[in-house]
Amino acid sequence: MSLLAQPFRLPCGATLPNRLCKAAMTEGLADEQLRATGRHVELYRRWSEGGAGLLVTGNVMIDRRVLERPGNVAIDPAPTDAESMRRLREWAKAGTSAGNHLWMQISHAGRQSPRYVTGEPMGPSAVQLELLGNYARPRALREEEILDFIQRYARVAVTAREAGFTGVQIHAAHGYLLSSFLSPITNQRTDAWGGSLQNRARMLIETIRATRKAVGADFPVGVKLNSDDFRKGGFSHAECLQVVEWLNAEGLDLLEISGGTYEQPRLLGFDGKAGSKAEEPQRESTKKREAYFLDYAVAIRKIAKMPLMVVGGFRTRAAMEATLAAGECDVIGLARPLCTHADTPRQLLAGEMAVAPAFEKTLKLGPGKLFSGVSPVFLFKILHVLGTQGWYYQQIAHLADGGREPLQRSVIGAFFAYLWDEYTTAFRMRRARRAAKTGA
Ligand SMILES: Cc1cc2nc3c(=O)[nH]c(=O)nc-3n(C[C@H](O)[C@H](O)[C@H](O)COP(=O)(O)O)c2cc1C
Repeated sequence: MSLLAQPFRLPCGATLPNRLCKAAMTEGLADEQLRATGRHVELYRRWSEGGAGLLVTGNVMIDRRVLERPGNVAIDPAPTDAESMRRLREWAKAGTSAGNHLWMQISHAGRQSPRYVTGEPMGPSAVQLELLGNYARPRALREEEILDFIQRYARVAVTAREAGFTGVQIHAAHGYLLSSFLSPITNQRTDAWGGSLQNRARMLIETIRATRKAVGADFPVGVKLNSDDFRKGGFSHAECLQVVEWLNAEGLDLLEISGGTYEQPRLLGFDGKAGSKAEEPQRESTKKREAYFLDYAVAIRKIAKMPLMVVGGFRTRAAMEATLAAGECDVIGLARPLCTHADTPRQLLAGEMAVAPAFEKTLKLGPGKLFSGVSPVFLFKILHVLGTQGWYYQQIAHLADGGREPLQRSVIGAFFAYLWDEYTTAFRMRRARRAAKTGA
């Protein structure tokens, strides 16, 4: 029998029906009040029918001021009002309709909230993200705000449970708030929340404890963590190993391994700024492996006592089965293939698909041969990364609108559509906020 198709029992007692997980992907489908909509319902009904044993939602924010994207769902305040709760319930019902698990990814964007969302991002320290001037200088959080955010993660987790989500994942990867606390580059605090690794990991560990206490022992709680930030002087692989050792004591149900930040988008298999001195070169062994964090995960596996999931680059059924057979992880994460083909997991499990769709490898920058392939020039590189990411955002929206075939669009076309969507959504949300304030 296929190992992928085997159920998996989590430490809390819940069971995932198989080993495939749709990893978190930001949906950008919220309404002006940052509530879930019918588009979430349609999208997650399709993904539920798509066969993965576990679906993790995209970033659901604990702070409506500091979003990762303008169309994020935010649960702030938590507990939330009756109408928002009704919408969350519909989302959860649709996302579990095929008997799979649906976990809410709970997140704070920290300093990675673009200017068109906020001019006042926040972080452990006032260290600005420099990416085309699109991110304002963050404000260093006060201790009482840190303590408040820890409780917010927990309250959002309780809201998720009450709404019918079957678990939560705390987002501590990719440079968002909890991840930025771990990194000595972004966390330059001299109080109990910065300095030593133990202090930098304090917010993550306190957040897990508060969440576990709030949801109880029988509800799945997971964490997404960077294997490495891949920045010189940043959160390193050695530090990750130490944090995992501490996490062993926290009763986690699943640890998802990823890597990188906005400055170093290894999560998507891309390198960071071309030629940047801050960049750590990609290992040769990583380049050879289909799942590009697997070597890191193997090292983590030797230390970790909790179940492990690896995400990033998995495309062939053979590699997924081999990874499970070697005991390198327990759950396989898949993201981009499900943007264009919602039933990828079902087909992989049934043996009808040997290779999941990997458009990111073949997308053309522009029409014809003019801009084909990845340009070594920094700006083209950014255009390529953002355009490709925008391309996937647009496929998700297309699925949510009932689309059956992938949208046909070049990377350049997707880049401009992405800018247009983000700015107009941000504009609509600001207008709604102003109207709510003035009672108009
Ligand atoms: C469109 C898109 C949106 C994403 N949004 C999130 C997110 O909200 N939270 C998160 O932890 N990772 C997010 N990711 C990263 C994925 O979860 C995953 O780590 C990455 O895509 C690598 O997996 P893949 O090679 O199977 O696509 C996103 C990726 C894509 C392509």
